[in-house]
Amino acid sequence: MSSKRISLTQYLVEQQREHGHIPGQLRLLIEVVARACKRIAIQVNKGELGDVLGTAGSENVQGEVQKKLDIIANEVLIEANEWGGHLAAMGSEEMDSIHVVPNRYPQGEYLLLFDPLDGSSNIDVNVSIGTIFSVLRKVNNQRGISEEDFLQPGKQQAAAGYCIYGPQTTLVLTVGDGVAMFTLDREQGSWVLTQENVQIPADTKEFAINMSNMRHWDAPVKRYIDECLAGKEGPRGKDFNMRWIASMVADVHRILTRGGIFMYPWDKREPEKAGKLRLMYEANPMGFLVEQAGGMVTNGRQRILDLQPTKLHERVAVVLGSKNEVERVTCYHLEADKQA
Ligand code: AHG
Ligand code: MN
Ligand code: MN
Repeated sequence: MSSKRISLTQYLVEQQREHGHIPGQLRLLIEVVARACKRIAIQVNKGELGDVLGTAGSENVQGEVQKKLDIIANEVLIEANEWGGHLAAMGSEEMDSIHVVPNRYPQGEYLLLFDPLDGSSNIDVNVSIGTIFSVLRKVNNQRGISEEDFLQPGKQQAAAGYCIYGPQTTLVLTVGDGVAMFTLDREQGSWVLTQENVQIPADTKEFAINMSNMRHWDAPVKRYIDECLAGKEGPRGKDFNMRWIASMVADVHRILTRGGIFMYPWDKREPEKAGKLRLMYEANPMGFLVEQAGGMVTNGRQRILDLQPTKLHERVAVVLGSKNEVERVTCYHLEADKQA
């Protein structure tokens, strides 16, 4: 790292000066989200000492048991973002419906979506978790706001990112001009730019999928993984390695760092659901980041960022990461469709 430290604020100001794509409200929004993540990181780090581990005794709209930290992180994000005048409304994995900015505050031009705590099953076992966020513009100019305003395809995102709470706390951001990473300097309390122009290699020998669901997969997914597992002697002619952290944030962070492919495909366990992951606050923001880093993101057939959402908590199958591998998985699906 160079001796000149660039803070998140300086980065955003310079990006605006040079490229003009970070208006004041968006800059404030990103800084507020980054500050909220700092507060979440402090809670995460306290663990047992802060009484933040374990379940909260409630369920979210998707019928998942909420952990204490799911709720704490959600509250931190809402509280931090309500009053600044940069937002019109927020949507979250942990809230059934959208949270409109109260009347006592000015209403801003942006909409914020988040998965406050991603990888909830990893909280109590001290494995990396994160916060994922997606920023949309409020398209209709009237004061009233509803869930419909959020239903924009991912390609319309103004910014997206995540914060990973791991051995280091890192904020990963795109405003549509590449991907930058900022590491939290805990002594200074500031975010320091540690990587710019992140690039995912087009080829990889590493895949991430929950193998325990293998018997429920569709044929194209099974074909792809079988070929990886066959290694050097198989059709791919090379050995593959496997990783599955069960925190999308951590799996995507690895892929942004050294490449790889991540899949959470549709499977036969709950055939009426398109997948496990949520389109608007998991797949879209991660999709924006991965594409900005030169990777590819599909639902097995189509580019995820082109999908028109029909509801806030919509689910989607996800295949993302190194371009040539995602292309291959997508081809396998399209070939199988043609034959059927
Ligand atoms: P969340 O904790 O926000 O509900 O998300 C968990 C997601 C994702 O982070 C991860 O990749 C996946 O669920 C793990 O699924 P399995 O439990 O099937 O491994
Ligand atoms: Mn999640
Ligand atoms: Mn979550």
